[in-house]
Amino acid sequence: MTQAEAKQAKRKDMPSARHLRVGIYGASGTTGTELTGLLQRHPACRVSFATSRSHAGEDLRSVEPSAPSVTLRNPTDVSLDEIDLAFVCLPHGHAANLVAQCVHAGVPCIDLSGDLRLRDEELHSRVYGSARPAGLAERAVYSITELCDASLDGVDVVSNPGCYPTCVGLALEPLARAGWLEGTVVVNALSGISGAGRPATAATHFIAVHDDVKPYKLGRSHRHTAEMEQSIDRWMPADQPRPTVIFNPHVVPMERGMLATTTVHLPGKSASAVHEQLAVRYRDCPLIEVLPYGQEARIRMVARTPRAVIGVTDVAGSDHVVITSAIDNLLKGAASQAIQNMNRRFGFEDHLGLS
Ligand SMILES: NC(=O)c1ccc[n+]([C@@H]2O[C@H](COP(=O)([O-])OP(=O)(O)OC[C@H]3O[C@@H](n4cnc5c(N)ncnc54)[C@H](OP(=O)(O)O)[C@@H]3O)[C@@H](O)[C@H]2O)c1
Repeated sequence: MTQAEAKQAKRKDMPSARHLRVGIYGASGTTGTELTGLLQRHPACRVSFATSRSHAGEDLRSVEPSAPSVTLRNPTDVSLDEIDLAFVCLPHGHAANLVAQCVHAGVPCIDLSGDLRLRDEELHSRVYGSARPAGLAERAVYSITELCDASLDGVDVVSNPGCYPTCVGLALEPLARAGWLEGTVVVNALSGISGAGRPATAATHFIAVHDDVKPYKLGRSHRHTAEMEQSIDRWMPADQPRPTVIFNPHVVPMERGMLATTTVHLPGKSASAVHEQLAVRYRDCPLIEVLPYGQEARIRMVARTPRAVIGVTDVAGSDHVVITSAIDNLLKGAASQAIQNMNRRFGFEDHLGLS
């Protein structure tokens, strides 16, 4: 940690120790493994524990050879007393109870699951089909870091966004805030198979995805549609009708990475005005790059990085504009964004530990 960073850490509720002691629940998963690597290298953190039930006692490297060497511990054998901050990388439906335990123990946490992203209880239970502890979602602040205007100072719970809603939200927020969105927003998106987590199923096994592109949960049936619409609703001026999102995800035979191609109806607005709006919005965001006008985003531009890229393309002879956006689903879509949110929560530079 540099002197300036150490000074900054003291300003907020950073513990008096030199390092923030962090615990990663679900470290053997695809996001937990990435996060453990980032936290091991983060100048202000020390990994106190990383958990897995099925690999307890094993080195994380036995699960993923490129991971850092950390002995995984059973979650029943660790204590919240050991840490100043918890990262919860569990499947939805299992994360919220652990988050509630952290809140009860006074340990801040960052939840990477979908359990606390949707504020409305009825909507959450309809979309996720699972209950969550009463009152917990109100304590959580949802944060796509660059777009979050709520303060994270001292919050109990940061709800880390979904990967698709991050990728699409970065493309749409500047237009939503300007009140430009209307009608139907059509998002066609591609994701690498790691978006489905580490355990292989009949649908995600190599032989099921290799040499193919598979559409799934088309239209409005993917859970992330509600999360995107919740964000658009927050961003848009109060007096304007909200657009409907049609979201068509596809799984592609790649390990990681995500690309969204979003078509918006913008009568009276040129593609170059959209490009300008995005470029101005992100000019002070070092991890978000708006590509030169007419250039499309590609997964190779961002894979294995915490960055996002956004491109704007004209649709000749129509009132539509196409925006392409790409992120690494495991990084900006999960682990590196969780680091950005931790940095913001504890008063570090947003991208500390991510360069
Ligand atoms: N993959 C992505 O691109 C991505 C992006 C953004 C957000 N997310 C969200 O992040 C969370 C983790 O995703 P992932 O892809 O890392 O999943 P994953 O690969 O399936 O890993 C889940 C982790 O949680 C542990 N676990 C599973 N069930 C548990 C339970 N009932 N109690 C305690 N631990 C349990 C697993 O290890 P053991 O079973 O050994 O304990 C594993 O370490 C999910 O909620 C997911 O929706 C994922």
